[in-house]
Amino acid sequence: MRLLVTGGAGFIGANFVHQTVEERPGTDVTVLDKLTYAGSAGSLGDIPNVRLIEGDVADPDVVDPLVAEADVVVHFAAESHNDNSLLDPSPFVHTNLIGTFTLLEAVRRHGTRLHHISTDEVYGDLELDDPARFTERTPYNPSSPYSSTKAGSDLLVRAWVRSFGLAATISNCSNNYGPFQHVEKFIPRQITNLLDGVRPRLYGAGRNVRDWIHVRDHNRAVWTIIDKGRIGETYLIGADGEKSNREVVELILELMGCDRHDYDNVADRAGHDLRYAIDSTRLRTELGWEPTFADFEAGLADTIAWYRDHEEWWRPQKAAAEAKYAAAGQ
Ligand code: NAD
Ligand code: DAU
Repeated sequence: MRLLVTGGAGFIGANFVHQTVEERPGTDVTVLDKLTYAGSAGSLGDIPNVRLIEGDVADPDVVDPLVAEADVVVHFAAESHNDNSLLDPSPFVHTNLIGTFTLLEAVRRHGTRLHHISTDEVYGDLELDDPARFTERTPYNPSSPYSSTKAGSDLLVRAWVRSFGLAATISNCSNNYGPFQHVEKFIPRQITNLLDGVRPRLYGAGRNVRDWIHVRDHNRAVWTIIDKGRIGETYLIGADGEKSNREVVELILELMGCDRHDYDNVADRAGHDLRYAIDSTRLRTELGWEPTFADFEAGLADTIAWYRDHEEWWRPQKAAAEAKYAAAGQ
């Protein structure tokens, strides 16, 4: 199989490429990635049979020939960080909307199978005491420039399926953790702060809840959908991992041998979504997927060990990420 992975030098995409090469020998992988601040060729190392093309998913001259030679396209490329989207939404509109449109047009021309990667944030947020969780039937209600551009990209995919008969599926996943995640994100930021002797930073009171899933479980679900998913369908991916941000920070502190109260509460994110929660019944019952990282504490301990052992990977990102947060009082 000839596979095109957009955004394959980012966090989830790079893990997807590693897993694919490990578990599906014989797959011929091409990565298309702009290598923005969030992408790193080093995340792919020197994996055999992987070709990295540096380019913009919104550039039809780059995208068309790559789609023409692929059997399957998995579309991870995106601007992915909510805080950045509040500072400057423009790259989010470019990559998440124009980039997805450009890819869809190439996929339409060449009749290629597409899987589009999206987020649970398209559904907005839930109250802390609401027993509800997101399902495939929850109405879209995104809050931030990031999540609204992801919602728009999902709607483009749905329209191309209905209008042009595209062979596409969509998945919306909850918060991922694991190796190769940029240090701007919550969990790696706190781990690398502690490795630097700096106190973790919790937005507001830390009551906000995220539904954590290990990145390897997300990627196994993506392959399950490519293999067995129904064309035109959306699948929610989640591993019943709801935790408040305060619980997560306290667990990181404990696992790193510190006092669990040694963190600072800093300025809250504007429009901060309160709670995300995924009901992944369709994926489990129709396609037979189950998460394998059932123990969040063990997965987090592995992730802490990975950052401890891979300072050469994250150190070049750290100062710029912290400078941005310092300017925002976070
Ligand atoms: P990331 O920011 O770590 O990686 C994004 C990658 O896309 C980077 O390698 C970057 O260089 C590349 N990229 C950005 N703009 C590009 C462009 N114009 N052309 C080509 N490449 C470009 O993001 P991530 O956390 O790995 O997320 C990957 C996908 O998964 C995104 O679509 C995101 O919305 C979705 N998602 C993420 C999470 C999560 O918890 N991180 C959860 C659910 C869904
Ligand atoms: O739900 C899926 C989404 O999860 C993905 O679509 C996004 O690409 C991904 O970035 C993530 O979005 P969040 O905004 O939830 O993730 P982030 O890591 O930025 O923050 C997680 C929570 O932690 C959020 O409630 C904000 C809070 N936070 C974040 C940082 C960076 C803090 O309290 N302190 C921090 O320093």
